[in-house]
Amino acid sequence: MKNIAVIGAGTMGNGIAHAFAQFGFQVALIDVSPEALAKALSTIEKNLDRQIKKEILTEEEKVDTLKRIATFKNTEQGVKNADLVIEAATENPQVKLAIFRDLDEFCEEGTILATNTSSISITKIASATRRPDKVIGMHFMNPVPIMKLVEIIRGYSTSQETCSVIMSLAERIQKTPVEVNDYPGFVSNRILMPMINEAIYTLYEGVAGVEEIDSVMKLGMAHPMGPLHLADFIGLDVCKSILEVLYQGFGNPKYAPCPLLVNMVTAGHLGAKTGRGFYEYQGKEMMVAERFRKG
Ligand SMILES: NC(=O)c1ccc[n+]([C@@H]2O[C@H](COP(=O)([O-])OP(=O)(O)OC[C@H]3O[C@@H](n4cnc5c(N)ncnc54)[C@H](O)[C@@H]3O)[C@@H](O)[C@H]2O)c1
Repeated sequence: MKNIAVIGAGTMGNGIAHAFAQFGFQVALIDVSPEALAKALSTIEKNLDRQIKKEILTEEEKVDTLKRIATFKNTEQGVKNADLVIEAATENPQVKLAIFRDLDEFCEEGTILATNTSSISITKIASATRRPDKVIGMHFMNPVPIMKLVEIIRGYSTSQETCSVIMSLAERIQKTPVEVNDYPGFVSNRILMPMINEAIYTLYEGVAGVEEIDSVMKLGMAHPMGPLHLADFIGLDVCKSILEVLYQGFGNPKYAPCPLLVNMVTAGHLGAKTGRGFYEYQGKEMMVAERFRKG
């Protein structure tokens, strides 16, 4: 494997492109939006500078890494020589199914098609292609250049060979791959999202305030960040939609999103990205949102 194409140059796509280029792969970064491509390149450059400051990389390695990334607006051109395509486009089943239908047309027979989806069934995405044995989930964590885990998700028809190739590829970019099967939420979100939802219920029922809930989990369970802060960071709309996937996928009411979470999303309080969630964010300042302050 030498040539990697990454579809979608947003938060995750730029990180995935960065990680592969840093370890010597040629990367084609593809996005329908030229603005997203320009922003991705400047983000990658900033993140490479951070690595230089931390003495992880040299100036010369930064220049070489950037040289290995080419950008494309056109998917067919971008994936032409790809040995592996990693799709990290918008989390919407229609968008992803259309991309995989196209990839199946445009890519060589042997090309492996991976998706970074957080919640959509790999088996369903694979069913849009004539090569379901070569479709797999590669669930990177944010921020990609820093986080070690890649959750490797085997769809119902993913072959052992595809899985082995992708597991060893993840190790070549110094990640730790963990193999799981394709059921709603995989492992990461099946465990994380109910914990976040329960933290929101604990607040909703008045058992404790925002800071108390986060402090218990940080100091008592050694979590680096409390669950309400983490929910703000992930995006409350994203948390709600993953809980809905779990709820529908298992048909079990225990996964239904807390009414407080539903209200916050409806009101447009989506967490850090809108400046308001369980906390309020002003620049680097963060305080409990006015609504949840005591007294
Ligand atoms: N953000 C996270 O923390 C996180 C973590 C793990 C997994 N994911 C998953 O990664 C994927 C991407 O998430 P993100 O946060 O980077 O999203 P994002 O909104 O930051 O970026 C998505 C990009 O995809 C582009 N795009 C949309 N349709 C396209 C198409 N047909 N062809 C090419 N480009 C297209 C958009 O222009 C946009 O730039 C999603 O599936 C998401 O669930 C996100």
